[in-house]
Amino acid sequence: MTRSIAPDDVPALGLGTWRLTDDAATEVVAEAVETGYRHVDTAQLYDNERAVGRGLRRADTDPEDVFLATKAAPENCSYEDCVASVRASAERLGRTPDLVYVHWPRAAYDPAETTRALDSLVEEDTTRAVGVSNFTVDLLDEFTEHADHSPVANQFECHPLLPQDDLVAACHERDVLPVAYSPVARGKALEHPVVQAVAEETGATPGQVCLAWLRARDVAAIPKTTGGHLQENFEAGDLTLTDDRAERLSSIEERHRCVDPPSAPWDR
Ligand SMILES: NC(=O)c1ccc[n+]([C@@H]2O[C@H](COP(=O)([O-])OP(=O)(O)OC[C@H]3O[C@@H](n4cnc5c(N)ncnc54)[C@H](OP(=O)(O)O)[C@@H]3O)[C@@H](O)[C@H]2O)c1
Repeated sequence: MTRSIAPDDVPALGLGTWRLTDDAATEVVAEAVETGYRHVDTAQLYDNERAVGRGLRRADTDPEDVFLATKAAPENCSYEDCVASVRASAERLGRTPDLVYVHWPRAAYDPAETTRALDSLVEEDTTRAVGVSNFTVDLLDEFTEHADHSPVANQFECHPLLPQDDLVAACHERDVLPVAYSPVARGKALEHPVVQAVAEETGATPGQVCLAWLRARDVAAIPKTTGGHLQENFEAGDLTLTDDRAERLSSIEERHRCVDPPSAPWDR
């Protein structure tokens, strides 16, 4: 089992780019990098890899200094389609991605075949590392059993209204970085009274509180913004929560899941 990237090599804050396309994606990615972001998250399914690649090249920083992750679409997870589609992603991005996730464990995903494809992609330097997304603990273990290159990260929904304590702990036990998508629950977490109270007490914004809480749990986060919250989310890195405040956020009982398709892996 080998790994060329360790979980610590992944910057804790990234920019999510779902629903950012064309010039808007290029502009936001360039602005994010100029703001200081060193991690950008895209996917074959977002139809923006070319625009994201342009944004990285447009910014005033060496594109190779930005950790770049993309995801193989579930329909592209047979051996041949995975190899061909990730090579095409690298061509669209204009550079080797640092990390290629399996976006969802469904459709053409097959643990033996997909890991074999990802292993070949690492060996031929089309990606530096592999990861998974929307994987339960059992699916993560099954993937790891088959893979020569073990997963660096598992990306799943996580925020104060969906803390995912067991999955976060299982990832840490396996030296896999949990990466939170929808880290502000698309705005829903910002309305919670405990999030608002901690924001008021610390002089931070509710969005910064959510991001600081994730960081306190050693969970990376990839908030998406059309630009308006770039600086605010970046400055969440300056907020450190006391144990008491982190605990109050962890004790929120209300639950909300933004992404819950039929036959989701967690319902099987
Ligand atoms: N692996 C997967 O299956 C999967 C699934 C979903 C998402 N993702 C990834 O995760 C990224 C983020 O998730 P998401 O887009 O679902 O949800 P999110 O980041 O929780 O929410 C994005 C929304 O919240 C707003 N927002 C961002 N920061 C804010 C702040 N500080 N204060 C107030 N509002 C704020 C944005 O508004 P503005 O745009 O107006 O700033 C946008 O409407 C995606 O872009 C994608 O890269 C992955």
